[in-house]
Amino acid sequence: PLASTCDIVIPAAAEGRGCGAFNAVQLEHVSAVIAGAEAVGVPVILQLSHNAIRYHGGLGPIGCAAVAAARAARVPVAVHLDHAESADLVREAVDLGFSSVMFDASVLDYADNVRATRAVVEHCRAHGVWVEAELGEVGGKDGVHAPGARTDPVEAQRFVAETGVDCLAVAVGNSHAMATRDARLDFALIAALRAQVGVPLVLHGSSGVADEHLTMAVRHGMTKINIATQLNKVFTSGVRTYLTDQPEATDPRKYLGAGRERVTAEISRLLMLLTAPA
Ligand code: G3H
Ligand code: ZN
Repeated sequence: PLASTCDIVIPAAAEGRGCGAFNAVQLEHVSAVIAGAEAVGVPVILQLSHNAIRYHGGLGPIGCAAVAAARAARVPVAVHLDHAESADLVREAVDLGFSSVMFDASVLDYADNVRATRAVVEHCRAHGVWVEAELGEVGGKDGVHAPGARTDPVEAQRFVAETGVDCLAVAVGNSHAMATRDARLDFALIAALRAQVGVPLVLHGSSGVADEHLTMAVRHGMTKINIATQLNKVFTSGVRTYLTDQPEATDPRKYLGAGRERVTAEISRLLMLLTAPA
């Protein structure tokens, strides 16, 4: 069934477990995320980024498909709008029945980020939709990595109080779209943020983090773990292997299906890793 993000993230945070939040760029990813979660019987957050929505020419078709797939799932599936840069897109997602949104005003200065985020929180709260925001810009979205970016715990606590957001994405050595899994996270900072900030913490750019460091990040207080690039790597490698083995293939269902199978298995593997009890 379609779940609220709150019902997935809050128990995980209380019990010191992680929860997987996986980005879909196409329908094959949507079905793989759900099938991978069903295979291990674990709730999951399925997310669509503003960038992926631009690729599809709008939220409607892919957004409706994600919500419909979540409703039909055999495990709780929350549908989340990721890195929304416009309040209009947030409103559209709320109207489609999304469970939560991330409003990303992290490029703005502090005061403007607070003002814009608070307006989004007011709208979403009235519709029972959870809001995530980001403070201390996590680099890599534009191909420019900034692994030195850090979120200040005191400023983070103030930001949460001033905006009313339900969870917070932080910069702790993570960076988006890393092709290698060698990010060096600042675990002491994660623990300091956990102690200071009253809402669950979100790790973006988790594809660049090795398995054992993902586990450590969860142990130190991270809860929602966002993974995109890793799924695309696995999908593409499945497609490439299929087409290399069968160069005469013409039916997209054959090679896209090969990619989808690989993503399904990777989702199951990552969910077991992230939700393992301490
Ligand atoms: O919001 C999405 C995530 O931060 C994904 O980042 O592509 O580096 O895994 P990633
Ligand atoms: Zn992100």
